[in-house]
Amino acid sequence: MQNCLKHPVFKIISEIALQEDLEVYVIGGFVRDALLKRKSKDIDIVVVGNGIDLANKVAVKTGKDTLVTVFKNFGTAMLKYKDYEIEFVGARKESYRRDSRKPIVENGSLKDDQERRDFTINALAISLGKEFGSIVDPFGGTADLKSKILRTPMDPDKTFSDDPLRMMRGIRFATQLGFEIDENTFESICRNKDRIGIISKERIIDEINKILLSPTPSVGFKLLDQSGLLELIFPELVKLKGTETINNKSHKDNFLHSLKVLDNICEKTDSLWLRWAALLHDIAKPQTKKYFPQQGWTFHGHEFLGAKMVPDIFRALKLPQNDKMKYVQKLVLLHLRPIVLSQEVVTDSAVRRLLFDAGDDIDDLMMLCDADITSGNPEKVRRFSQNFELVRQKLKELEEKDAIRNFQPPISGDEIMRIFSLSPGREIGILKTTLKDAILDGIIENNYDQAYALLLKKAEEMGLNIESAPKSLLPPRSGLNITQINP
Ligand code: CTP
Repeated sequence: MQNCLKHPVFKIISEIALQEDLEVYVIGGFVRDALLKRKSKDIDIVVVGNGIDLANKVAVKTGKDTLVTVFKNFGTAMLKYKDYEIEFVGARKESYRRDSRKPIVENGSLKDDQERRDFTINALAISLGKEFGSIVDPFGGTADLKSKILRTPMDPDKTFSDDPLRMMRGIRFATQLGFEIDENTFESICRNKDRIGIISKERIIDEINKILLSPTPSVGFKLLDQSGLLELIFPELVKLKGTETINNKSHKDNFLHSLKVLDNICEKTDSLWLRWAALLHDIAKPQTKKYFPQQGWTFHGHEFLGAKMVPDIFRALKLPQNDKMKYVQKLVLLHLRPIVLSQEVVTDSAVRRLLFDAGDDIDDLMMLCDADITSGNPEKVRRFSQNFELVRQKLKELEEKDAIRNFQPPISGDEIMRIFSLSPGREIGILKTTLKDAILDGIIENNYDQAYALLLKKAEEMGLNIESAPKSLLPPRSGLNITQINP
């Protein structure tokens, strides 16, 4: 096991351990990841004795630039050395009160320390002292790593009740590593699910994000659902579950569909926020579901309501209320547009509007729509994909020609106010929209002269005083380079 101990800090620790006759081990995630051949830059060192003392001694040997950060309350110390973060702690025994994750800590043996950890695969230690490089594995962690099993070192009811975040961690590791949760351990998660109530939202969302960033996140969301945790931490997703049949007409299970779309998009992108958009794209389907004898099941307006729900969901989950949230909201709002386009005759005008509304997020939107094609009927999938290709082609053509993606109208609101001596008010909005619509619909070209002529005409129709407006104006800034617009 010496291969993973090449970092120079291990040699330094080992020298100190031998000199001072100390029992020192590297433990936890670093060992797990080394055995799984995953890279890790966090090293946890446990010593039977005082962790802070050991950290200080290591810092002396690594050189004067090494800074030790001491967390006295926790009895831990951290130092950064050659790209790695190394945390030192004394081996301990813990006991917990029912209402808190904060343990009462006593000094303990290595085995006490291993036993209090969440999973056997996270309880493995490698000696840095006398038997440098040998694995200490009293709970069968190496065997569980081999058979890809997550199991707690002690009675799972105690492990999860002590620190209920571990239930989320278990499901996250299962998703991230492609492991199974041992049956007894999973049953315990189901029994202890309500204890999740004492865990902060921030810690929970950290785990959800890690599930979302895994190769196949549906695994995690299904486990969260089966355990009953999902209902407690993310009830909106649970509402998507189930199908209904009237007159032999059924709709699909929107929970499973959303997870399929999520898995699909994960094959194409690592972006957390695009993955969030995939998960939430149909979030308002339960609230908008209706049955009509002629049409069957409909979910009219679910994209609008879904976009409206995004800020509340982000707030409840303690996700950021910033441009990331707005991006997810925008994709949820627009997710039907390319599909609708692909079902109709694809006009330049409709494609131009889509480009205008999506802006720089158009490629992500197209990726989401591609992922959204989950029909089991191969003929339907073929037809959709073919039409979709047409939309892509048109988008490309118009992109090259019109530069609509970052569209700026040739006459700004300020200029409109100056031309007609108006103060801010609804007239300005109407005039701006008229210009924008005319350009997007291909009625006029995107240049100053044509926009100005239309502006005068519309202003006259609205009864505005156009006498004082110049008959024509020299463009104060160049219009965009659109040479030809086909309606
Ligand atoms: N640990 C635990 N219970 C927790 C968190 C951590 O028992 N709720 C233990 C595990 O032994 C874990 C170690 O502390 O391996 C280090 O925790 P941490 O750095 O949070 O996690 P890693 O296991 O390293 O994995 P990741 O960084 O992916 O969370």
